[in-house]
This record gives sequence, structure tokens and C-alpha cells, in this order.
Amino acid sequence: MCGIVGYIGCRDAFPILIKGLYHLEYRGYDSAGVALANGGEMNIYKTKGRVSELEAFCKNRDVSGTAGIAHTRWATHGEPNNINAHPHYSESKNIALIHNGIIENYVVIKDRLIQNGCHFQSDTDTEVLAQLIEYIKELNNIDLCAAVQLALGQVIGAYAIAVMEKGRPDRLIAARKSSPLALGVGEDEFFIASDASPIIEYTNKVIYLEDEEIAVVYRHEAPKIVTIGNIEKTREIIQLEISLSQLEKGGYPHFMLKEIFDQPRTLRDCMRGRIDADCKQVVLSGIRDHKERFCNAKRIIILACGTSWHAGLIGEYLLEEFCRIPVEVEYSSEFRYRNPVMYPDDVVIAISQSGETADTLAAIDLARRAGAFVYGICNVVGSSIARNTHSGSYTHVGPEIGVASTKAFTAQLMTLAMMSLCIAREKKTISEERFLRLLEELNRIPDKVERILRADESIKNLAGIFTYAHNFIYLGRGYNYPIAMEGALKLKEISYIHAEGYPAAEMKHGPIALIDSEMPVVAIATDNEMYEKVISNIQEVKARNGRIIAIVSENDAAMKDIADYVIEIPATEDCFDPLLTVIPLQLLSYHIAVTKRRDVDRPRNLAKSVTVE
Ligand code: G6P
Repeated sequence: MCGIVGYIGCRDAFPILIKGLYHLEYRGYDSAGVALANGGEMNIYKTKGRVSELEAFCKNRDVSGTAGIAHTRWATHGEPNNINAHPHYSESKNIALIHNGIIENYVVIKDRLIQNGCHFQSDTDTEVLAQLIEYIKELNNIDLCAAVQLALGQVIGAYAIAVMEKGRPDRLIAARKSSPLALGVGEDEFFIASDASPIIEYTNKVIYLEDEEIAVVYRHEAPKIVTIGNIEKTREIIQLEISLSQLEKGGYPHFMLKEIFDQPRTLRDCMRGRIDADCKQVVLSGIRDHKERFCNAKRIIILACGTSWHAGLIGEYLLEEFCRIPVEVEYSSEFRYRNPVMYPDDVVIAISQSGETADTLAAIDLARRAGAFVYGICNVVGSSIARNTHSGSYTHVGPEIGVASTKAFTAQLMTLAMMSLCIAREKKTISEERFLRLLEELNRIPDKVERILRADESIKNLAGIFTYAHNFIYLGRGYNYPIAMEGALKLKEISYIHAEGYPAAEMKHGPIALIDSEMPVVAIATDNEMYEKVISNIQEVKARNGRIIAIVSENDAAMKDIADYVIEIPATEDCFDPLLTVIPLQLLSYHIAVTKRRDVDRPRNLAKSVTVE
């Protein structure tokens, strides 16, 4: 996590860096700092708290300079305070460094440096790297780039760094390994950033560094790219397709609400060019190009974390129902350390909004080493997971800024649904008639989402009733069981209310003990073959005075007599229900969190892109 940004050019660096940090705040926001090169001087300002606090702190201070680096932090080593904020200095204060990632062997290196006379100010692993670079530079009397190469050769872990040297306002150095880093290429100006959002306002040309590559960035010439081992590299300049408006709130009070309301459009974008106008064909190029791998797969393993893992669970139901391939869904963080049994004809699907989640990247590596074919479902174009998989499908929803994932999740579901239909047709495990019926229905989903969004005001009123709650239970069955978990996760993430999602029938094996007149229970009871069973589960809650909010299909008169509150959604095929049932749960969490005055887009302790394990 953490966001890094750097600028070198002819304009004032400070406003560009601060704006960049605001874009990157989703990656961490417990402290922030900036280093500015001003002729022979280097000014560093850093504070605990948000970027706005850094900006206020810098008022009336000297922020001149046309080169600089800046950082927004999500603490791993050392509490969030002024001293642990980045940039970090070297011993002589001649080198300033910002870092996203973790230096795993920092203790050993720190001990060695202390024995050699270095004095440390902070508790961070990052300061160790700043000190190490200078120590190597002085010891060998070499240039900064060579020292960075040697230092990085000694560290174990993940990093995206930017380094600046006092008296050298003409040069920034950046490097990466297992943490993302983009270089923006402008006219006589260059940008360094954890993602393209701080760059896009100035240029749509970017270079993505590969692992263990270092870029030496000057003001007036193309960046020089070398590996840690000093091999020169040429990297292609990529044209970005995102626009600045996609990164702004567009009149909504929060990115999360904008992203919830974006979903009819993002779902259409996700289908665009894949489902034909007559709804007779669905083509995903990644599946088309590797159809044998999917059709011959004896097993599919889905790897993901967080909300993407919930999408994976629904993927399991879809792929098993339609393609008749056994599917296992694993947390990437567990999979990577548990010595799993893998076969070369396994197909692995890695799901990740950011495409940068460290555990998922490591799990992909493991699967690839075991010979499996790995398919990625990512949102961020050019992300590490997109690049480290054999093939894949982008979800095409544009940047998702709110830390709690919404539009990326529904597009992951849409992608999994399209993939399942593609493979099932290829394998002939679905009848033509069913295939066409499902494809037509899939095409109607964005309109149905739009209809659900019209209930926003009544969901907001409902949220007002439940802000008292300290706990929530979410129940669902079949395709809606993962949605119960996702609903609970959304609430936890942004309102800090404890919530649990359960398969409705499992409630009686434990959670039922929690039910009393204070306990809100959100039950997903749409019109499908599980309906009667979920009704029985709801009756069990009612008998214990629990307060029931039911998500039901339109015109469900019976539920009005049973549940305390009812939210209606349009009917659809069972297998596409999650694409609809999740929408009122997103809105409910959002409004509860807003009523409780939580920081919805930047909930405490969380980060959007988890680039540490
Ligand atoms: C973090 C985010 C979640 C996200 C998870 C996995 O925890 O806060 O919203 O679901 O990481 O991220 P990914 O980018 O791999 O989908």
C-alpha cells in the first residue's frame, strides 16, 4: 500500500505532488510527506494524518522547486507519526527516499549499519534503505544510481521507491519490485507514481517498469532504464485510455456512491464488444484463444482476496453449474503457503480489481511454477497481475477509487458469468435454448440495476433506523450466500459495525444464539428454488424477535407480513441474482456509514491496493 509520486520538469513540483497524493490517498492515509529539490537545497515536510494536513502544514513554508517526491503512507513498520512518515533521509540528509512495500530483511541490514556508525530516526524499514544507499555510495565512492543498484541487490522484499539527492535537482531515481510503478512521459517533464491517476492530467503516455528495474529520470531527456544487475532496457511507451473525469466525483458526495450509481454503465462497458447486438454470441478473446485449456481442465482453482474472493465464490457456482468443471476457491494468502496439490492441466483464475494484491501475485507465481495455466480477471489495465498471467479478461469499469469495492465486484461477476457461458457453449454442457435465454437476461441486467438504484432514498431512510446497531447478520443461500458475506464485509469496512454473513441454513448452528430484539438480520429471499427454505430461516429469526430486513423479488406480498422491512428488486435468473441483490446491500452500508459520519471513501486502517502480504 502507500502511494508514491514524483515530478521533475519545468513547473512548480509542489502542487503537482500534492494533487497526486490526493489521487493516491486510497492507498493509505495515515501520514504524508514531500521532499522538494530547490537548487542546492532539499526541503522535506512531513506530518501524521491526511494529505490535507500536509498541505496545511506546508502553508507559509518554502515549497519552491521543480523536482520533488511525495508519499502517502499506510503503516506497516512503525506507528503512523511525524517521524515515521516518508520521505526518509540518509545519515547525512543528502538522500531522501519514499517507498511502497516492505523490506523484509531490514533488521539485519539496520544492525549492520548501526555497527558502521549510522543513526536511525524512525522505526521504519524504509529508512534502512535510504541509509544503506548512502552507506554504499560513500563506501565505494560511486554515483547514486550505482549505489541504488547495489543496495537493492541486498534487500529482500517488495518496493517501489523514488530517490532524490541534495544538490542534484536535475535527477530522480525510481525502482520497483513487486510493487507497482508507472513513469509518466510528458514534454520536458516526467512523473513517477504508484498508478496513473496522478499522471493522467498531464500526459497519457506511461512506461510501466518491470521487477528489479531502475529508471533514472532527467528533465530534458528520455528516462534511462537499467536493471539492478546493470543491464540496459528499453520499455514501450503505453497510451492510457482513462480520462480525468473518470477520477473525479462527478457531483456525488463520495466516490463510493458515484461508483455504486455507475454500475449500469460499467456493466454495459464490461459486456461491450463481448455480447453481440442480437444476444446470440458471447466472445471473450482470452477464452477463445485458450478454449482447449478451459474445455480440458479437470479442475479450476480461483484465487483472490477480499471482495474479489466473494466474486470467486459466485464464479465457483457458475462454472460448476454450467461448465461441469469442479472448482475450488482459495484465499490467495492461504494458498501460497500451504503446499497445494497442483496439476499441469489445472486452470487457475486469479481475480483482482487492482491487479497488484501481493498475496494474489505470489499465489499466481506458485501456480505458474507448478505448470498451471493462469487466467486473470483484473480491472487495472497493465497491472502486475494482468502482466503475470497467461491470458485474461479486463473488467473495464475504469478506476475504482472508493476503498470499498462496488462496481469492480459486479463487473467481476459479469465477467465470470460471460466466461461460464462461453466455456459451457464450447463444451456443450448447456443447451442452446438455455444459453440464449441466459445471454438475453444478462443483457437486461444493467437496466435492472438502474431500477434498483431508484430505491436509494428509501434505503437511506432504512439506514437511519439501524445506525444504533453494533452487530448485523446477513443471510443468503445458493448464489446469494456469497452476497450475504459481501454485504457483511461492505458494512464492516465502512461503518465499523461488526457484521457476519452466513449461509441461511447454517444460522441454527451458532449465530442464532446472537439473535435478540436488537439484532438486525438482512435476509436475501428472492424468488428462486431456495425461497421457501429461506422463509423458514427468517421465521426462526422472527421467533427470537430479531429485526428482519428482507431483500425480495418484486411483488412478494407474503414477505411484507413476515419481515420488518422489505427491499424489492426485479426478478432474474437465479445465477444472475448476485448482480442485483448486492446493489441494495451496497447502498445500505453506504448510508449507514454516512449517517455514522464515517469516512466512507477512506475507512480507517484499510487500503485499496494491498501490496504487502
Ligand atoms: C483490499 C480492498 C478490498 C479488495 C481486496 C482485494 O482489502 O480494500 O476492497 O477486495 O483488497 O483487492 P484486489 O485489488 O485484489 O481485488
